[in-house]
Amino acid sequence: MRFSDGFLSEIRDRVPISAVIGQRVTWDRKKTNAPKGDYWACCPFHGEKSPSFHCEDRKGRYHCFGCGVSGDHFRFLTELDGMSFPEAVERIAEMAGVPMPARDAHEERRERERASLHDVMGLATKFFEDRLQSADGAKARAYLRDRGLTPATQQSFRLGFAPDSRNALKEHLASKGVEKAQMEACGLTVFEDVPVSFDRFRDRIMFPIPDSRGRIIAFGGRAMSADAPAKYLNSPETELFHKGNVLYNFARARKALQKGGAVIAVEGYMDVIALAQAGFENAVAPLGTALTENQLELLWRMSGEPVLCFDGDKAGLKAAYRAADMVLPLVAPGHTARFALLPEGKDPDDLVKAEGPEAFRAVLQAARPLADLVWMRETSGGEFETPERRAELEKTLRELTSRIKDESVRFHYQQEMRNRVQSFFGSQRGRQQGGERGGGKGSFNKGGGQWGKGGSGVQAGRLAVSESLQRSAMVKRAGGILPLRETCLVVALVNHPALIDENFDHVDRLDLSNAELRQLHSVLIDAMAHHEANNREQVMGAIGRAGCSEIWERAVALVRKARQWTALEDAALEDARDAFAQTLHLHRSARTLHKELKQAEAALATDPTDENYRHLVEIQAQFHDVQATEALIEGFGVSSGRSGRN
Ligand code: UTP
Ligand code: MN
Repeated sequence: MRFSDGFLSEIRDRVPISAVIGQRVTWDRKKTNAPKGDYWACCPFHGEKSPSFHCEDRKGRYHCFGCGVSGDHFRFLTELDGMSFPEAVERIAEMAGVPMPARDAHEERRERERASLHDVMGLATKFFEDRLQSADGAKARAYLRDRGLTPATQQSFRLGFAPDSRNALKEHLASKGVEKAQMEACGLTVFEDVPVSFDRFRDRIMFPIPDSRGRIIAFGGRAMSADAPAKYLNSPETELFHKGNVLYNFARARKALQKGGAVIAVEGYMDVIALAQAGFENAVAPLGTALTENQLELLWRMSGEPVLCFDGDKAGLKAAYRAADMVLPLVAPGHTARFALLPEGKDPDDLVKAEGPEAFRAVLQAARPLADLVWMRETSGGEFETPERRAELEKTLRELTSRIKDESVRFHYQQEMRNRVQSFFGSQRGRQQGGERGGGKGSFNKGGGQWGKGGSGVQAGRLAVSESLQRSAMVKRAGGILPLRETCLVVALVNHPALIDENFDHVDRLDLSNAELRQLHSVLIDAMAHHEANNREQVMGAIGRAGCSEIWERAVALVRKARQWTALEDAALEDARDAFAQTLHLHRSARTLHKELKQAEAALATDPTDENYRHLVEIQAQFHDVQATEALIEGFGVSSGRSGRN
C-alpha cells in the first residue's frame, strides 16, 4: 500500500534513527557523541574492524564512509533486515506509537487474491514433496541421491517430484477446494489453446522458487532423462512470479549473509543447492536468463560487492563480459561486482563435488574486480605497438567508462584507466617507477581461478584497482609498506641533520601519514630538543636507543631501491638540500590537498549538491597534477642517472 509523505515523516521524526540502528550495531564509545545525537559503529553492511559507519539523529540518516551505503530509517530496515517497505513502515510506526493508516479497499482485495495464490502454491509444493517420498517417487529419489544431494538438503530446499500424469496435481488441488482459475493463475496448468487443461509439470524433479519472504511463487522442473524436450521447465510469468525480478535462494542467502561475506551469483538451481550443501549458503541464481538489472539490484541489497561466477570456457568469459557491460553503468560508491571464472567445463556443482569446498573457495579468491574485466577485455590479445593503437585503446576505455552514471565513480574509473594505460605502456618500455610498482598484486595468474589462461599478451593488470586508488587517495598503507616520498624526507633528515636545523619550522610540524615514519620523526625532534642532532652519528644513536633501527633500515632500503640517491648518506649536502626542498614542497601540497580531498568527500557524502561535487572534482584534479609533477621529477632523477654522489 502507499503511505502519505506526511505519515512517513511523522513516524520518522518521532523515532531517533540511532534507536533503529542501535538494535543492530554496537556503538563505538570513543567516536560516538550520544548527547549530540552523533553515533559511530562498525558498518553492519560491509563488515569492518574500525568504525566508519555514521548516523545522526538530527538528520535522521546514516552513512558509511567505508562502503558508501546511506539512507534513512526505512532504508536501513529494508536493506539490512530485508523487510519489505510496508513492513519497515509498520515497525517504525510501532516504535513511534502511531497507528497505521486505514488501508485502501481495492489494494486490500488484490492482496487477498495474491494471498490465496500463495496458498495454492504452498499446497502444490507440499504435494510435490509428498510425491517424492511416495512409491512413484522412487526414481526421482534415486536421481537426487546419485547427484549427491542428502535428504536433509532435499528437505531444506523443499525439493519434490511431479508424477507422470496429466491431472494428478489438478485433482489434488481440486480436492482441496482450489478453483481452476486459481491453478491457471499460478501457472500450474496448461490451459491456453487446449480443450482440457492439464498439469504443466509432469515426470520432473521440482525445485520450488521462494520469494524474498520465503513464500513459493514458482517452480523449476527438471527432467530426469537426457532426451526430454526441455531439461528445465519453469513456471510462466504470473501475478506472483516475474522471472527477471527473482533470484533463486534469495531469502536464505540473505539470512546467511548476516554473518558477513559477499553474495555469490551462479548459474543454476543445482549449483545453488550443491554449494549450500558444501557450506556456501550465500549463493543465488537467476532463473535461466542472463542477470538482469533488477536482479543486480537485489544482489546489491545483500552485499555491495557480489561475486558473479561464470564458466571457464569461451562462452562463460563472453557471458562475464556481457554481465560486466550490464553492471558497469550502474556501479556506484560501494556498489560494484567481482567476477570469478570456474575451471573449464565445470559448474560449481561439479567442482565442489569433485574437488571439495576448497576448490570453490580458491575460485572465489581469484575473483577479479569489474575494472579488471573491462581492462582485460579491451587489452587481451591486442597489440599496442603504435601510438594510433594506444590512442584507440584510450578512446575505447574512455567511451566505456563514460557510461557510468554515478559521476564520482565515473571520475575514478577514468582516472584508473588512464593510470593503467600509463603504467602499462610505461612498464612495457621497461621504465621502473619509484620502485614501488610491480609486485604480484595485479596479476591475473594468482590463486585457483582461471584468469591466467587464454594466452593474451597484455594480461598483467600491472595495477590492481584498489592499489592505484589507494595511491591516488594516499590512504595509509598497511603492513609495513612505507610511502616513498615521506620516507625520502625522513631519511634525508637523518643523513643530513643540518637540514633539520635549516627547516626547523617545517620539520617540526611535518605531517606524515605513516605511523612508523612518525616514530622516526619524533625521535628526530626529540634528539633536536636534547641537542643530540648535531651530526648523523648522534641521530643514529638516538634511533637505535628508541628501538627504531628496523624501521630505519627498511626506510633506507626503500630509498635505495627507488634510487633516490640525494637522500642517502653520501650525497653532497647541496644536492640533498635541493632535493629535500623540492620533495618537502610536493609533500606539503599533497598533504594539504589530501586533507581538503577528505573534507570534500565528506561534504559530498553528507550533502550531495552539484557544488560540492564540483569542488571535489577540482581538488581531485589538483591532486592529480601534484602527483604527475612528482612522477616527472622522480622519473627525471632516475632516467638522467644522476647519482648525487659527486
Ligand atoms: P544448467 O544447465 O547449468 O543447469 O542451467 P544446472 O542447474 O546446472 O542443472 P544440472 O546440473 O544440469 O541439473 C542453468 C539454469 O538455467 C535454467 C535453469 O534455471 C538452470 O538452473 N535452464 C536451463 C532453463 O530454464 N531451462 C533449461 O532447459 C536449461
Ligand atoms: Mn549443473
